[in-house]
Amino acid sequence: MSTLYEKLQHARSEEDVKDIYIKALGLKSYTKGLIDIRTDEIWFEAKEGGKISSYAMFTQLLHYVQDALNKGEIIPPFLAVIDTEKAALMKTADVLPLLKNKSIKWGKSASQYPKEALDEVSAYIGAYFVSFKISSHEQEFIQAVKQAIQTGEIIRAQITPDNLKQVFDKWVAMIGREIIGVNEEDYALLFFADIMHDGTLSTHEHLPAELLHKNNAPVFSLNGKLYELANKEGYRRFWAIYHKPPHSEYRNYLLERRDSLIPLDERSFKGAFYTPLAVVDAAYNKLTEVLGKNWQKNYIVWDMCCGVGNLEVKHSNPRNLYMSTLDQADIDVMRATKTCAAAYRFQYDYLNDDITDDGKIDYSLTNKIPESLRQAIREGKKILVLMNPPYAEVGTGSDSGNKAGVTKNKFSTTAMDSYGKASSELFMQFIVRIAQEMPTATIAIPKR
Ligand SMILES: C[S@@+](CC[C@H](N)C(=O)[O-])C[C@H]1O[C@@H](n2cnc3c(N)ncnc32)[C@H](O)[C@@H]1O
Repeated sequence: MSTLYEKLQHARSEEDVKDIYIKALGLKSYTKGLIDIRTDEIWFEAKEGGKISSYAMFTQLLHYVQDALNKGEIIPPFLAVIDTEKAALMKTADVLPLLKNKSIKWGKSASQYPKEALDEVSAYIGAYFVSFKISSHEQEFIQAVKQAIQTGEIIRAQITPDNLKQVFDKWVAMIGREIIGVNEEDYALLFFADIMHDGTLSTHEHLPAELLHKNNAPVFSLNGKLYELANKEGYRRFWAIYHKPPHSEYRNYLLERRDSLIPLDERSFKGAFYTPLAVVDAAYNKLTEVLGKNWQKNYIVWDMCCGVGNLEVKHSNPRNLYMSTLDQADIDVMRATKTCAAAYRFQYDYLNDDITDDGKIDYSLTNKIPESLRQAIREGKKILVLMNPPYAEVGTGSDSGNKAGVTKNKFSTTAMDSYGKASSELFMQFIVRIAQEMPTATIAIPKR
């Protein structure tokens, strides 16, 4: 099915543009005339092409509104301008103060407005209308119009688990790329800092990045540095369309889906894929079946590639729980969302940390492993390694899972001489270190 935008690209006349929008918006009772499309709720000014500014289109539309006001006729609660590339929506009440003082010199007809009228209208309405680029935001526009008709308000689109990835991609295009001097791989953290903020307060304390304001403009703080926006227009337009913060019931879930926003090549390199909760459920049932119903009490659990901790959220005995992972940002997200708050959570690179030059394990190299875990390992206590490790193999193919960097870690280069080809598998590297470090541990790996 072709989209609104695709259909608009085939429009041959202004009439086509009107008809395409009428259909896409599902308008039922309307008339076409001087006011291009007129419904009880919205008046539309339409143009073919995309060259005429929204300001100019609104100026024409406001001429009719002024006319109606002068004649004491009914005016609609909303005004919209539409063309082949863009659309914009505004509440009529917001511009009434401008029309009431009757200072604007309108032209003979709506389309022959003098430049002064355009300037005066433009200076006033910029803060009120919400604009949508149709190629990227047609759904948001359609929704906003439908909700405006239903509720009498311009309601911003919600950020939900279903549109998180699309919203993030649009955020990168309109805001992320305008942030001066920031690395692409940090976009996801800055995105979360931005969306989890209501304009005054952040919804979570201690997120890895923070949104601040300087001279009334947004700035981002990450790892002790401040990052400013080169251009604030995209920021204004983006947040005119979306509502923030997201509904409270989604917030933690959205934060934990950072993996889904990490660029694909970095993600497959780190194996940053999330274990769906249904798989976690099935895994816990299986563990109860195999290890007995008291396994959460009897076993010390270590997940050394825990990401944001999905595998452990069902665990009910956090004091027996050790969770470590490669990215400090994941640990920070767990702290901010209070995931497994009572567990031991720490950054630890399982394939590089605490490995001596001759492939032995020496915890004093980083001192990151909690003493209680070291003791459990020393004493050969019952340990369950519960993990969903990264999978990637060194190869010659161009498949993004085949990364030259995979073997380049301390463990595979110092401790896996006798493992042949297996030494090039990330997954095997984890298993071999576990075998060396905790030879009596039980390993549990969920599989779909
Ligand atoms: C498949 S994900 C599983 C994440 C989490 N357990 C879950 O189920 O949602 C693998 C995780 O291992 C982490 N990881 C990759 N290399 C690692 C390393 N050398 N040491 C520790 N963690 C690592 C990745 O950052 C990623 O979060």
